[in-house]
Amino acid sequence: MKIDENTNAIVIGGGGAIGRGTALGLARRGAKVVIADIELDSAEEVAAELVAKGGEALAVRVDATDESSIVALADRAEVAFGEITLLSNNVGVVVVERVLDADDAMWGWAIEFNLMSIVRCCRVIAPRMCAHGRAGHVVNTASMAGLWASKPEEVGGVNLGLYTATKYAVVGYTETLRGELADHNIGVSVLCPGTVDSDLMATSLRNRPERYGGPEVIGQTKGMVPHAMSSDEVGAYVLAGIEANRMHILTHQIGRKFVDQRYETVTKDFDFYAEL
Ligand SMILES: NC(=O)c1ccc[n+]([C@@H]2O[C@H](COP(=O)([O-])OP(=O)(O)OC[C@H]3O[C@@H](n4cnc5c(N)ncnc54)[C@H](O)[C@@H]3O)[C@@H](O)[C@H]2O)c1
Repeated sequence: MKIDENTNAIVIGGGGAIGRGTALGLARRGAKVVIADIELDSAEEVAAELVAKGGEALAVRVDATDESSIVALADRAEVAFGEITLLSNNVGVVVVERVLDADDAMWGWAIEFNLMSIVRCCRVIAPRMCAHGRAGHVVNTASMAGLWASKPEEVGGVNLGLYTATKYAVVGYTETLRGELADHNIGVSVLCPGTVDSDLMATSLRNRPERYGGPEVIGQTKGMVPHAMSSDEVGAYVLAGIEANRMHILTHQIGRKFVDQRYETVTKDFDFYAEL
């Protein structure tokens, strides 16, 4: 789809780094943008930045783990800006643990925030986009971790298994949704970034519901990873991906060799069974 002043967007997790980059890119093209986040102050900060740069934006608090909150968000967005044509889903948590050591609460937390928040936001908002019949687009943020399973030594010594498993699920979900929405003139992309400069570790912990262990406050993690991509830069990749309706939005070429290796393994396994 073409992004312009007729684009009405909702960016969920819009107060965060990747959400902000996407929102900023959209606003620069004249789109009207609802910035939705569980942390209203960060959503307001991003909305104020967009407005200061000449854009039209509205900040709304939403809890993506609660369907009624998403319905209220969609209603408010439609009242403010009209029919929604673009949905960007960026809620996620980073959960660090070995897969064999993680208990049900850790798995539940990862599945709820990384997968179900996206499933729920799409289920509420995509049918509204289909109903009005205008061209549209959905972008779901997974991660490069959704394309290959890293070893700790490849990613700074951390165990990303729960993150990987849930981000693979986001990739599978989004590729399927792309097929389901194709006849409605709605493009669908899955964003699979490598490291982006953000405070994800801290936002994950401070918004953790009681049922998954409760909130925890840690210091800011933004700015700690050298050579992390800026949110502005990610936003430019996202816009290009939407306009070209790419299935995968790939921001970090460094991931290519790992993904190639994975597919090579799959191919070799096919070869093995072909010869059996
Ligand atoms: N930062 C990276 O290196 C990186 C890399 C690949 C993928 N990602 C993914 O990108 C997405 C965005 O991450 P980010 O790096 O911008 O982090 P971020 O912490 O800046 O953004 C996440 C936002 O989601 C919000 N949020 C949390 N729980 C919510 C809820 N229940 N309802 C609504 N909003 C909620 C947070 O307040 C925060 O503003 C995540 O899915 C993350 O897994 C990040």
